[in-house]
Amino acid sequence: MKAPFFFGWRDAPATSRRLRVADAASCARLHRTSFAHPWSVPEFEALLNDPACVADGIEIKSSLAGFILSRRAADEAEVLTIVVAPGSRRNGHGQRLLAAHLARLAALRVRNLFLEVDEANAAALALYRRFGFTVEGRRKSYYAKAEGKAGDALIMRRALS
Ligand SMILES: CC(C)(COP(=O)(O)OP(=O)(O)OC[C@H]1O[C@@H](n2cnc3c(N)ncnc32)[C@H](O)[C@@H]1OP(=O)(O)O)[C@@H](O)C(=O)NCCC(=O)NCCS
Repeated sequence: MKAPFFFGWRDAPATSRRLRVADAASCARLHRTSFAHPWSVPEFEALLNDPACVADGIEIKSSLAGFILSRRAADEAEVLTIVVAPGSRRNGHGQRLLAAHLARLAALRVRNLFLEVDEANAAALALYRRFGFTVEGRRKSYYAKAEGKAGDALIMRRALS
């Protein structure tokens, strides 16, 4: 049986690599740990099979501990999702993933990378700001919440060249 994602492998070495269709089930398992509306294995298979999608993962002890997925269109791309296993966060893996991903997109001649983030997602916002993403727009009341007011989505952009 595979080890669960939420172990805190703080001292284990992490390696980054491109994702393959065979990673769909691991992606779905990991995605489920962090999002209210998780994507299914077939959805990940379709994304990982799509030549427009660029997907990078990070492995610790042969298990996927995080990944990032973007979709390209002409010289732009959009981050569809990024996640690091809850037990492995604040260990630099998000930065490692994003750095590898930006380098790959730049090599593919992507000039602008966009993403959408809940303005209440402090961890993601701090990570994106650290990498030079700036706010380009806002979608009001975009994220429905179980309780309280719906949150705004921020549209962020980072130039790659
Ligand atoms: C966002 C996410 C990918 C960050 O991954 P991570 O591996 O913890 O990130 P890192 O350890 O590389 O942290 C990078 C920087 O981001 C910021 N950061 C990360 N987590 C933070 C938190 N909980 N609070 C504030 N800042 C945070 C810090 O500036 C951090 O640098 P530091 O640790 O040197 O201070 C992770 O929190 C996650 O998977 N969240 C759930 C999924 C999600 O919300 N994805 C984004 C959707 S838009």
